[in-house]
Amino acid sequence: MKLIITKDYEDLSNTVADIIQDKIEQDAKLKLVLPTGSTPIGLYAELVKRYKNNEIDFKEVTSFNLDEYVGLDRNNENSYYYFMHDSLFNHINIKPENTYLPNGMAEDIAAELLSYEKKMEAVGGIDLLIDGLGENGHIGFNEPNNELQLRANVTPLTTSTIEANSRFFENKEEVPTEALTLGMGNIMEAKEIIIIVNGEHKAEAVQKLINSSVVTTQNPSTLLHLHPNVTVVVDEAAAKLL
Ligand code: F6R
Repeated sequence: MKLIITKDYEDLSNTVADIIQDKIEQDAKLKLVLPTGSTPIGLYAELVKRYKNNEIDFKEVTSFNLDEYVGLDRNNENSYYYFMHDSLFNHINIKPENTYLPNGMAEDIAAELLSYEKKMEAVGGIDLLIDGLGENGHIGFNEPNNELQLRANVTPLTTSTIEANSRFFENKEEVPTEALTLGMGNIMEAKEIIIIVNGEHKAEAVQKLINSSVVTTQNPSTLLHLHPNVTVVVDEAAAKLL
């Protein structure tokens, strides 16, 4: 596991944008998995800026998302569909048909999850998966548990995740209690993984990930130690306890 400590949030966002730009230059048909949340906002803004400056071309890029809330319509501002379009897809030249998110409103959730995985398979798998890190060590919405799911699944969100995500909603009662997420197996199948983390509130989660000498399902991020190509990119605040 490689660790990159950047100065601050801007430096972190630029560093990861550099990596993505470089990868797209090497392979115009790059297959990405992207996250939502607060952490990637600076990265997405930087990618949009570079697209507008003709520095990156997303024409042939394909993107999947890690997760989506169950029960939120695509037009709901808190849906991950809305977030991805609002912060990235609407502002770059990625083809709409090359952007995939699981549908949290699907009537048949099991069929939806299966077809989502099939689409990932059909494009030949994922080159680069980017994710943030939950304060409790979750990866995607693979929450600490006695067992972790390997495949895409529907999962109840933990109280701490609902609490953390409530900052985006008017009140806690509005936060969905379930999400669709890629499983740990899907995540570990990506050829390369980059975990981005900023802020002092994540320092303990970073320390538990980087310094862990075991893998445990009670901290899903520790499983990343079993992957051959993982880079954790943090800012100085998140690296405080290292
Ligand atoms: C989101 C996701 C989550 C977040 C994590 C950190 O697609 O997969 O694992 O990356 O909850 O969220 P933020 O960035 O909001 O602190």
